[in-house]
Amino acid sequence: MIFLTVTQPGPRRIALESEKATIQKMDARDLDEVLSIESSDSLAPWSREMFVEEMRNPLAYCFVTKGESGCKPSVIGFICFRNIGEESELLKISVHPGYRHLGLGKEMMKFYIDFGRERGITTFYLEVHSSNHPAIRLYQLFSYRSSGMRKKFYQGKWDALLMTKKA
Ligand SMILES: CC(C)(COP(=O)(O)OP(=O)(O)OC[C@H]1O[C@@H](n2cnc3c(N)ncnc32)[C@H](O)[C@@H]1OP(=O)(O)O)[C@@H](O)C(=O)NCCC(=O)NCCS
Repeated sequence: MIFLTVTQPGPRRIALESEKATIQKMDARDLDEVLSIESSDSLAPWSREMFVEEMRNPLAYCFVTKGESGCKPSVIGFICFRNIGEESELLKISVHPGYRHLGLGKEMMKFYIDFGRERGITTFYLEVHSSNHPAIRLYQLFSYRSSGMRKKFYQGKWDALLMTKKA
């Protein structure tokens, strides 16, 4: 089980069973680890340059979750999104394969929704591979509902499900 124990400003602390973790702004120094998670199973993986560009975009937010069990904190998950006016689009959420189904995805989604609500977001959007059941289930837990389908959206082959949530 994971839970947040400290709120902003500063990194949020999470207790992941015996391990502690924090969620904090992504930094260029995190990118080697982020890219290794990103390349593990994203259908539309971002390059280093894409992450760097996103970190520079004033409308975009990228955060990493770092585990603190070893001698050096390491990235165990990340989330990227854009807030434009009262709308937010979730661009990326990913958990290191060795840390999945432990509640970290839920904690990052909670962080994201709270972050948006605190900044006046009223509608949250995302798109997801239509057969990515773990991700769809996670979004449903946060009251996202299907709002459309983009045919052959991923690599010209796989459909994307559009999902929307009201704040
Ligand atoms: C989707 C993802 C972020 C979920 O993160 P996670 O830390 O494993 O998720 P959690 O442990 O918080 O689980 C949240 C809910 O998701 C669902 N879920 C997670 N893993 C699941 C699995 N393997 N099978 C079915 N449902 C699953 C469950 O409903 C779970 O809630 P529950 O445990 O109360 O039943 C993670 O699987 C991941 O990184 N996948 C690869 C990247 C990806 O697909 N990102 C989404 C792209 S749009």
